Amino acid sequence: MHLKSLIAGGALAFAATGAFAQDYPNRPVTIIVPFAAGGPTDVAARIYGEFFARTLGQQFVVENAAGAGGTTGALRAARSKPDGYTVFVHNVAPHVSGPVLYPSATYDPITNFIPIGTLAYAAHYVVVRKDFPAKDLKSLIEYAKANPTKINYGSAGAGSATHLACVLFGQQTGAQITHVPYRGTGPALNDLVAGTLDMMCDQGLNMMGQATAGSVNVLAIAQKARFPGLPNVPTTAEAGLPGFEVQAATAMYAIAGTPEPIVKKLVDTMAGAFKDAGVRKRIQDLASELPSNGQDTPAGLAALTKSEYDRWSGAIKKGNIKVQ
Ligand code: MLT
Repeated sequence: MHLKSLIAGGALAFAATGAFAQDYPNRPVTIIVPFAAGGPTDVAARIYGEFFARTLGQQFVVENAAGAGGTTGALRAARSKPDGYTVFVHNVAPHVSGPVLYPSATYDPITNFIPIGTLAYAAHYVVVRKDFPAKDLKSLIEYAKANPTKINYGSAGAGSATHLACVLFGQQTGAQITHVPYRGTGPALNDLVAGTLDMMCDQGLNMMGQATAGSVNVLAIAQKARFPGLPNVPTTAEAGLPGFEVQAATAMYAIAGTPEPIVKKLVDTMAGAFKDAGVRKRIQDLASELPSNGQDTPAGLAALTKSEYDRWSGAIKKGNIKVQ
């Protein structure tokens, strides 16, 4: 091709992308959430989705593409058209561990996605059904050790944050507990409340309502400090399991190949969401934190995605975790 027409073609393409970005979004945007409705990923996506809709003047519609520990939705997102009309909200741990665990998860968590921002950091809690015989963490560990494989715990599927947190719990206590995978933490929590499930390593984003209503027993928070909203719940160190600290991070990614001006619009809107009093309150009321200190940037999320990949792929190999 002639050099002149190549340059003209390039300029045209640039102008088209620029114009395209200027009126973006001019139709509803789909937020793919790879877990069932009502769980922590879904809740965070909806809180931010409402802010994005208000700010950008178009609906941000959550599509729950649940299954296979979040990898069904992740794969669907990775294969979506990279035009900004699909974005992806996932929990960072299952996002990066999916391809390590599932041969069918043929996506690359780093190169197939563009970091937009971390929506919430949520500590995990050790939670049991209301009528479970153990009423504190020490007795739970003793009970689990005396009754190998008898305690069943629910998660959002193999590789989900709620699964990996309980795997770590087993590794650190030596307790053998039995995994029951669901399509999301929302349905697992329903069974915990109903009493058909014994235990979960759940996030506040999911179980705060049930915890304050007293429908489940929260035995410990897996972080250094107590959460002011649940002042009577001890930290894992206070409850006799120091070092068991797990925090989930929920994040938004664009699809690799999304035009740069659209990515910038999403990143700028995210920066606005971080400052919005309504968004902040809703996230904090659910026992979660917003990113700060340099984590509130796409670079912060990129670094987190990489470090979570190293952490969880190591834990999966150490625990010899396989998808059943
Ligand atoms: C998880 O990884 O456990 C998710 O946060 C589950 C969910 O959002 O339902």
